[in-house]
Order: sequence, then C-alpha cells, then structure tokens
Amino acid sequence: MIIREAGASDYPAIHSLTEAAFGWDAEAHLIAALRESGDAVFDLVADLDGEIAGHVLLSALTIPPGALALAPVSVGPDHQRQGIGSALVHHSIGRATAAGWSAIFLLGDPSYYTRFGFSLDAAEKFETDYPREFFMALELKADALKSMPPKVEYPAPFRELG
Ligand SMILES: CC(C)(COP(=O)(O)OP(=O)(O)OC[C@H]1O[C@@H](n2cnc3c(N)ncnc32)[C@H](O)[C@@H]1OP(=O)(O)O)[C@@H](O)C(=O)NCCC(=O)NCCS
Repeated sequence: MIIREAGASDYPAIHSLTEAAFGWDAEAHLIAALRESGDAVFDLVADLDGEIAGHVLLSALTIPPGALALAPVSVGPDHQRQGIGSALVHHSIGRATAAGWSAIFLLGDPSYYTRFGFSLDAAEKFETDYPREFFMALELKADALKSMPPKVEYPAPFRELG
C-alpha cells in the first residue's frame, strides 16, 4: 500500500469509498465542497495496488491561522481494521508537520484518536459549538496552542453541513 496525493481521476472512487464507509453521503459531499472552496490542503489516498482503500482530507481552519482540521477519514468497509486508517492519520501528521502547520483539530472518538497524540485537554481552551467530548487537538509545534486565541472556526463547508 502507498499513501499518495489524490488526483481528479481519483475523486469518483473517493466519493464512493466515503459514502460506503459512513453509510450516507454527507461527508462525500463535504470533501467535494472543501476542494471547491479552496480550503482543502492535504487530500490523500491509501492506494492498494491501484484500488483506493482509504482517504483522508485535511483543510485549513479559518481561525486560528496555521491550524488544520482533519476530516473526514474513511476506509472502505472491506479494508477496515487492517491499519489503513492509522497509516493515513500518521501520514497526515507527518505531512502537516513537515509543511510547517502548527496544530490539527478534529472531531472523533477519543478511544481511536488519542493513540496518535490527539487529546481533549489540548482542545479544552477553544470555544466550539461541537460536542466537547469529541473535540480534540494535536500540537505540531511546541506551545503553538498556548499562543493561539481561544476560538476555532471551521471553513464554510463544515458550517453548511450543520
Ligand atoms: C474509523 C476508520 C477510519 C478507522 O480505519 P481502520 O483502517 O479501520 O482503522 P485501523 O485498522 O487503523 O485501526 C483499528 C483500530 O481502530 C479502532 N476503531 C476503528 N474504528 C473506530 C471508531 N469509529 N471508533 C473507535 N475506534 C475505532 C478499532 O477498534 C481498532 O482498535 P484496536 O487497534 O485497539 O483493535 C474506519 O473504520 C472508517 O472508515 N470508519 C467509518 C467512517 C468513520 O467513522 N470515520 C471516522 C470519523 S471522521
């Protein structure tokens, strides 16, 4: 398996994969909207001998500058629990760090994301309308979160998702 940047020819397969992973199409449409709005930064696929087995998108938050939102991450139902989701998250963290981003925020199950270093505590000071029990952050640069104003604003396509 390799993890690589998605190209336009991958978009239909990513759409189908995301819909299959979630069981509905809201996240698949969110991905398309974030590309369209120019907020998508890292659009990565797990390519298993030419088959798109997983996908992750990272987008720039409107506030604070320098921070990314990781969402959504999807692994095809036939490929789950084989480490592909973990590989995508680890790879995302590596790419974002190398590119100089300061932090990543996400909404998800702490029992899954804490293994990558995300924590509820790191996100605690930030105002959010999202449920606190799923709102986590990971600092990529030392003390970056401390110096950020306590407000997080997701780009418009997330807000339109409701
Ligand atoms: C969540 C998801 C991306 C994980 O990918 P994956 O390749 O199946 O995960 P991995 O093989 O890397 O990791 C498996 C581990 O994650 C755990 N796990 C998988 N999905 C989980 C979930 N939704 N919540 C909590 N833990 C989860 C498994 O129990 C397993 O734990 P273990 O290692 O302690 O046994 C994948 O299951 C998926 O696409 N789910 C549907 C879409 C979704 O819910 N996306 C996340 C929200 S944005």
